[in-house]
Amino acid sequence: MIKLTNISKSFGRNQVLKSINLTVEKGQVVVILGPSGSGKTTLLRCVNYLEKPNDGEIMIGDYSLKCKHAAKKDIHALREKSAMVFQQYNLFKHKTALENVMEGLVIVKKLPREEARARSVALLKKVGLAGKLDAYPSQLSGGQQQRVGIARALALEPEVILFDEPTSALDPELVGEVLAVIRKIAKEGITMIVVTHEMSFARDVANHAVFMDGGIIVEEGPPAELFNRPREERTRQFLKRITPELNYHI
Ligand SMILES: Nc1ncnc2c1ncn2[C@@H]1O[C@H](COP(=O)(O)OP(=O)(O)O)[C@@H](O)[C@H]1O
Ligand SMILES: [Mg+2]
Repeated sequence: MIKLTNISKSFGRNQVLKSINLTVEKGQVVVILGPSGSGKTTLLRCVNYLEKPNDGEIMIGDYSLKCKHAAKKDIHALREKSAMVFQQYNLFKHKTALENVMEGLVIVKKLPREEARARSVALLKKVGLAGKLDAYPSQLSGGQQQRVGIARALALEPEVILFDEPTSALDPELVGEVLAVIRKIAKEGITMIVVTHEMSFARDVANHAVFMDGGIIVEEGPPAELFNRPREERTRQFLKRITPELNYHI
């Protein structure tokens, strides 16, 4: 289980997260939606401690951390519990697909090279890239690069994978192959928090949906309820903008 309690984050005077509370059960897929600038990326980065929250508590599995008093080794331990999949893939450009996946296993997990290699090959197969082990990112399509990013996250065997708009940088015809991979690993019971505006994915795959705006969680609930019967005006307005074909009853 993941539990965020009163997570707050400011950049200078700009308070970007305002006491966020969120619980994610083991094996759940949670989608987060919200307008640009609402704090979605910052929230994911706080869970992975790429950003240091100013206040609050993060619990992942049996590990919990009070952000105000976090020591380096606690941060290190917490960081190993999650893995990020980034909007812009963030692969090492001078490393092959295989080397990109192996990197974390060798450096972070300290696995022997041969074992790291075998595990990475298996994961690249799983995301449909068995034929691209030795390709560099520049030789791969965006969809293929993102699938390397997903294999890299899986390799770390985290308690939760954090996806930050994983398909929003892709050409439309490549979105499906990446969503298919995410669907497949969701079915295997891996806990996920996914920032996405792909509504059909959110509807089919997510167990829980969260709408953020202005650094707060405005509304959350089962996807069918949140999308079909939003309670809050702000949620309705946002959903109308991203799915104009839907008519919401006011
Ligand atoms: N490193 C940073 N330094 C200063 N401001 C930031 C930084 N990262 C994000 N922000 C600000 O925080 C707000 C929320 O950004 P972000 O979390 O990226 O939103 P979203 O992912 O929902 O679009 C924005 O106003 C953004 O400008
Ligand atoms: Mg973002």
